[in-house]
Amino acid sequence: MDFDLSEDLKMIRETARKVADEEIAPRAAALDEGKIFPAESMKKLAELGFCGFLAPEKYGGSGLGNLALVLALEEVNRACASTGVTLSVQNSLVASPLNRFGNEDQKQRYLPKLARGEWLGAYSLTEPGSGSDAAALITSARRDGDFWVLNGSKNFVTTGSYADLLIIFARTNPDASLKAKGVSAFLVEKTFPGFRVGKAEDKCGIRGSDTASLFLEDCRVPAANLLGQEGKGFTIAMDTLDGGRIGIATQAVGIGQACLDASVKYSKERKQFGKLIGEFEAIQWKLAEMATELDAARLLIYRAALLRDRGLPHTKEAAMAKLAASTAANRAAKEAVQIHGGVGYLREFPVERYFRDVRITELYEGTTEIQHLVIARHLLR
Ligand code: CAA
Repeated sequence: MDFDLSEDLKMIRETARKVADEEIAPRAAALDEGKIFPAESMKKLAELGFCGFLAPEKYGGSGLGNLALVLALEEVNRACASTGVTLSVQNSLVASPLNRFGNEDQKQRYLPKLARGEWLGAYSLTEPGSGSDAAALITSARRDGDFWVLNGSKNFVTTGSYADLLIIFARTNPDASLKAKGVSAFLVEKTFPGFRVGKAEDKCGIRGSDTASLFLEDCRVPAANLLGQEGKGFTIAMDTLDGGRIGIATQAVGIGQACLDASVKYSKERKQFGKLIGEFEAIQWKLAEMATELDAARLLIYRAALLRDRGLPHTKEAAMAKLAASTAANRAAKEAVQIHGGVGYLREFPVERYFRDVRITELYEGTTEIQHLVIARHLLR
């Protein structure tokens, strides 16, 4: 077992750390306050090639894979979780399924634009009536000559208002009792007739990231834009989330690390009862536990990323990484506010933002309860 990163991977992490500290972190509070989409940060990350980790060189990416992606993602999320989730979705939820399930024509048409960050992407599975029970979706797709005609509504779509290309899951077999077996995946451009973006949500955290609802009203999608085989869309959705969950686990560890860094710094500055608060055992235990739990989660993330890169089974491992990371990071954020005391509750201190941002990591791309279910199903089968 080798715990050393290659020189290339170390360089990616260093580059990400530098851009995160110098360009992304300074903008984070304003994006949060004003609900401003991180367009500028995404442009910079795209210039560095960070939208193309999961697209082969042939299609304009670097093909460096999931381990490279998580090293970069942790640094970006440490600085700004709104930028972090936008970058994670672009790579894991859009470029990755296009590369894994798209045909040559689809890859040539869309992957280079996504990998270079010229186009933004979104992934749209959830509907008002189907969240955790994703296979209960009712958006329909009916064949009409050389087109599929989509009808329905979607919600909680990250980057939905800004995406040029969306992977949308719809039911091609109207028999809802078929559940997962009746679902297909479509590549939908925002300019296709009948596609409409609804309102963007006003969120507790990751306020700079976009979360939209979508409406498909006789939306005409060329037959050539069916992704993978008809009726196999749910497998594409789940395989994609296996990768996405590694990304959200990484987001959690990035935010958790920011909490730990801020807490260590504050513990070495703040004095009470005549000494630095870092000299109190109560504070030391909190710091030690935060660091240990985050490191354990980080190792689970690296394992899941490596398995995915090697084409080995990783559904359970991705769920374990997300479960461990989101739990550890939420605890770290709670303790960071506690260590900061009253000022940790103030908008002018970043731990207040981390505390709000980290909450989503236990909700999206599968709740904590769904990660338990996925892990337990693997243990019991
Ligand atoms: N990889 C490939 N295929 C998979 C798979 C995986 N990891 N998991 C399941 N499948 C396949 C199964 O093999 C099965 O196919 P066959 O019948 O051909 O064998 C099919 O999918 C159905 O599987 P299940 O019977 O396990 O399906 P289920 O209805 O019991 O659901 C679930 C399983 C795990 C609960 C799933 O519904 C789930 O993950 N729910 C959570 C949804 C979720 O994470 N949503 C997040 C949306 S994205 C988002 O959050 C916003 C954003 O933009 C960031």
